[in-house]
Amino acid sequence: MRRETLAVAGVDRIGPYSLVRLRRGSLESGVPGQFFMLSPPGRLLPRPMSLCLATRKELGFLIDPIGPGTRALAEVVRNQRVAVLGPLGNGYLLEVERPLLVGGGIGVAPLPYLSERLGRPPAVLGFRTEEHAEAAALVPNAEIVLEPRLVTELLRPGHDVLACGPTPMLEAVRRLAPTSQLAWEAPMACGYGACYGCAVEIEGVLKRLCVEGPVLTAEAA
Ligand SMILES: Cc1cc2nc3c(=O)[nH]c(=O)nc-3n(C[C@H](O)[C@H](O)[C@H](O)COP(=O)(O)OP(=O)(O)OC[C@H]3O[C@@H](n4cnc5c(N)ncnc54)[C@H](O)[C@@H]3O)c2cc1C
Ligand code: FES
Repeated sequence: MRRETLAVAGVDRIGPYSLVRLRRGSLESGVPGQFFMLSPPGRLLPRPMSLCLATRKELGFLIDPIGPGTRALAEVVRNQRVAVLGPLGNGYLLEVERPLLVGGGIGVAPLPYLSERLGRPPAVLGFRTEEHAEAAALVPNAEIVLEPRLVTELLRPGHDVLACGPTPMLEAVRRLAPTSQLAWEAPMACGYGACYGCAVEIEGVLKRLCVEGPVLTAEAA
């Protein structure tokens, strides 16, 4: 884990999302599903973001502008500087035989990097609108559904599911595929175990999602 201030290499609009590409500096890209704390310009607290794309020169983050912090991040411009800390937390276990990537909405964010590391396995993605579904172009071999259809309709038996998405989607995936690896979300203020802002109850025990997760196997969650 390192903290660095990185320059913005560019921002690509993908439907309602922004793909913010930062010059990589000396930061490691980490394991897919790990996250970074990005400091939005003009905001006190950093925000957790999954790594979406990693190249030799850049780290890319797909941002859904839903509030003040994500809006400030989505609106950065080339050469502006952003403080970044990471990689943090536990990512996906990559030793799986028949991976199937499952994403819902902005849960698509970690899947491009995961897909690349797993050799472009099949993926199923669910989105609210066609505009949101433009982000599917980042994930190779993806099948897409739009609401009111649900992505869980596309789950097939015999796969090792690696999923990221809203809590109701993860709950449904957990019921259908109990050995899945699921990336959970909680509000995070520090990202490295110091503030307990992300504590969630797992099997009656309080766990900090930034340290124990964000990726947990469905049986442990
Ligand atoms: C490990 C991890 C990885 C993430 N990766 C991405 C990513 O790649 N791209 C992306 O766009 N977003 C990602 N998020 C979510 C993102 O961090 C939040 O949307 C962001 O912090 C909201 O900040 P804000 O100031 O824009 O909005 P706020 O004003 O802080 O929040 C807006 C609304 O969202 C709710 N909210 C905020 N944060 C969370 C959260 N973490 N879980 C559930 N509800 C929340 C608030 O209660 C509020 O209702 C990730 C979150 C985690 C924990
Ligand atoms: S975000 Fe501070 S303990 Fe997890």
